[in-house]
Amino acid sequence: MKTYAPGESMEQLRRRYGHAEIVKLNANENPLGTSPKARAALRELDDLNLYGDDTYTLLRETLGARFRLPPRQIVLGHGSNELIALAAAIFLAPGDSAVMGIPSFSLFHIAVRAQQAQAIEVPLRDGVHDIAAMLDAVDKDTKMLFLCDPNNPTGTALDAAAWKKLLAGLSPSVALIVDRAYSEYMDRLHLDARALVERPRTLVLHTASKIYGLASLRFGYGFGDEETIGAMNARRIPYNVSKAAVAAALAALDDEEFVELSIATNVAGKAQLSPELQRLGLDIFPSQANFLSVGIPIDATRACEELLERGIAVRSGDALSMPGRLRITIGTEPQNRAVIAALSELLAGWRA
Ligand SMILES: Cc1ncc(COP(=O)(O)O)c(C=O)c1O
Repeated sequence: MKTYAPGESMEQLRRRYGHAEIVKLNANENPLGTSPKARAALRELDDLNLYGDDTYTLLRETLGARFRLPPRQIVLGHGSNELIALAAAIFLAPGDSAVMGIPSFSLFHIAVRAQQAQAIEVPLRDGVHDIAAMLDAVDKDTKMLFLCDPNNPTGTALDAAAWKKLLAGLSPSVALIVDRAYSEYMDRLHLDARALVERPRTLVLHTASKIYGLASLRFGYGFGDEETIGAMNARRIPYNVSKAAVAAALAALDDEEFVELSIATNVAGKAQLSPELQRLGLDIFPSQANFLSVGIPIDATRACEELLERGIAVRSGDALSMPGRLRITIGTEPQNRAVIAALSELLAGWRA
């Protein structure tokens, strides 16, 4: 089994490099911080001695109203990571298989292997999921297909034609898991969750870790057909989402100003970074997310170490099944400027 290798935390980076200020662009976190409404809700938390509502009715109703789905089609998780693992536990038995792209979110592979099932990894084509090849890879043992859209670590998204091909070609006996951790950053969504979950055995996953800036609180949510959601709710541990996460999520969902500012910052950051990276001769996959996959002529892991020495943390593609590339979270204007300056210096040194 592979093990999950997250980007280093701020604590780890500071301990290792001793910089007081680190430009942290290695985990696709929100560079603006946390939704102010969520922060205010957290300050008001009370009654922590009392268990919360394990049915999570208010939060599921709030999400249901937002996405126009009944609460019985919604499951909440300790981050969407928990929901990925839970889905694999529900759909897979030893000897089954699951199809996924490579490179894609590494937790899919880990969750599948934890069920003693096989992970069938289908190479992306030019950074995009190859739907025809993924459908070809489905065999009699295949019980799940994972699709990360936009895909981590490439940032690319499926177009409408690819969605159509996937939904027409995938047997209804195969569960479809769509990870939409970054969908709020997309220019436009081709299919809303309601349309997707009309299909049986379908789960659409979202997280509060990115656009709402709540990564450390651990909150994710999933939409699905009633049977899938019922099975997941029956299997999850009680109180899997803390009272703090519920309070923060309710407030964050209501914080349109923060969401809009986060999207605008990302759009501006992408417009700032893309031409500068191209000017440096680096190629970029077209991104619909809050990060860029950037080809680099130097060993990617070495480039990361050298950037860290300059106080900038980005992710090496070597750790993400994407050799020869870096994954750079789109930051604020000064953060983006810092990453470009450091990369220019690095490349000038390499070329000299
Ligand atoms: C594609 C994808 N899915 C899920 C997650 C994790 O989300 P959460 O923090 O909600 O567990 C990430 C985090 O990086 C991700 O990139």
